[in-house]
Amino acid sequence: MGAYLQTDVTKVTTRVLKTMKQHGEKIAMLTAYDYSMACLLDSTKIDVVLVGDSAANVMQGYKTTLPITLDEMIFYAASVVRGIKRALVVVDMPFGTYQGNSKQALASAIRIMKETGADAVKLEGGEEVLESISRILSAGIPVMGHLGLTPQSINKFGTYVVRATEKEEADRLLKDAHILEQAGCFAMVLEKIPAVLAEQVTKEVNIPTIGIGAGAAVDGQVLVLQDMLGITQQFKPRYLRHYGSFGEGISTAVRQYITDVKEGSFPNEKEQY
Ligand code: KIV
Repeated sequence: MGAYLQTDVTKVTTRVLKTMKQHGEKIAMLTAYDYSMACLLDSTKIDVVLVGDSAANVMQGYKTTLPITLDEMIFYAASVVRGIKRALVVVDMPFGTYQGNSKQALASAIRIMKETGADAVKLEGGEEVLESISRILSAGIPVMGHLGLTPQSINKFGTYVVRATEKEEADRLLKDAHILEQAGCFAMVLEKIPAVLAEQVTKEVNIPTIGIGAGAAVDGQVLVLQDMLGITQQFKPRYLRHYGSFGEGISTAVRQYITDVKEGSFPNEKEQY
């Protein structure tokens, strides 16, 4: 790890991420929703930890991200922040807390920052949420954008397939990327869009782009922790690389525990008082 520019920073800030883009150092981001995982992630020197509203899927078992509430996101985020010293912590603003009402957006973002101690918020959309973004930024709260496949709009899209494959949508996304940059967002997620489009956005904007299913030419990558660890075994989109089979590992460990308990071999003499 010694060769990377930002390895020695004691705290990753939005400014650090901008410098990383300028120096061509890729940004590594993963999600977390609890204290134990946050401690583990921070010890690896991950750059950014996202408390994603994907918690609705992987922590709560919902099919979409829509049901998760602001109180629930604050609960997860506060737990994560308690485990992080170095990484930048970004918290997703849940569905219904910022769209169409910039005063509510600011109030929601202020609650997240006050009650969790996180470093920034993330919200989905471009021009249609510009007023909310500007109002949040006016309070000094850093905002990460999110374009492409925006899961909170799944009922509008009707499908999780790759976005912006047609020129009209690609042009709109490019325009939105510039709008986010001009508004003052410090970075943006590009989810499930063609790699060439993500490359174009990355070249045209001066803020870091973090891809998920957006190819290699972006400034950083993000994955959902449970997905990349092989815990959510049924979910295997093309962009996902498994960095372990921890689902299997956990099942094997639990089966062994059950056997040991049933056989009476746990606890042994050394494991008792
Ligand atoms: O909620 C989430 O985990 C996200 C990432 C997939 C970018 O928004």
